[in-house]
Amino acid sequence: MKGVILAGGSGTRLHPLTRITNKHLLPIYDRPMVTYAIEALVQAGIQDLMLVTGGTHAGEFLRLLGNGHEWGIDRLSYAYQERAGGIAEALGLAERFAGGDPICVMLADNVVERTLRPAVENFRRQGRGARILLAPEEDPEHLRHLGVPELDGGGRVVRIVEKPERPPSQFAVTGIYFYDAAVFEVIPRLEPSGRGELEITDVNNWYVEQGTMEYDVLEGFWGDAGESIDAYYAVNDFVRRSGANKP
Ligand code: G1P
Repeated sequence: MKGVILAGGSGTRLHPLTRITNKHLLPIYDRPMVTYAIEALVQAGIQDLMLVTGGTHAGEFLRLLGNGHEWGIDRLSYAYQERAGGIAEALGLAERFAGGDPICVMLADNVVERTLRPAVENFRRQGRGARILLAPEEDPEHLRHLGVPELDGGGRVVRIVEKPERPPSQFAVTGIYFYDAAVFEVIPRLEPSGRGELEITDVNNWYVEQGTMEYDVLEGFWGDAGESIDAYYAVNDFVRRSGANKP
């Protein structure tokens, strides 16, 4: 399995901080945000990674990560996104890197307390289709800024609603996704959403319709540090107190 880390976007929700740097280079406790996603994948046994980013600060990732060896990466590839066209568009740039292999995709502003290893093993066993990781979340105000699944009670996802006015469950779809090679056939067929982006939720709903979407519920803390300035500080506080990517 290969890993794709998505570190693009314009980071408007963290303006003006993100006028002078890329969101994923802002500090979380004692190191740049993106290094938590890298550590999560490497610790889960995924050491062949591609980082997708864009904008004026893209070169800083090279300065930070170099060839990746210092971070436990075996082979680190980079892709440059010409414009902020959404998560699914960014993922499309990894097609040749993936080369037909299954992939684990992680948004570089997501931070987890516990290892992704069980989910990686579950997707290996699953063999095809897609898998998402859900995090319990009770606050509807928080859920309105995320993707939220409707679940049927029998362990299946019925659909995923992006930024729902009325959240259909008390789970957030985290920015950690597993896909088989079909994902690269789905992306070119997507239409831009209301915010002018190719949405990862549309990709996920395609797999839901195919009946090949499975999920795990994450244990421990999950945070999207790019969601808002308050979420950014909540993730900082958690990591400073309790750490991240623990076995
Ligand atoms: C994206 C996804 C959303 C998901 C979130 C997790 O949101 O579109 O479904 O819940 O990441 O971090 P965005 O950060 O683009 O608003």
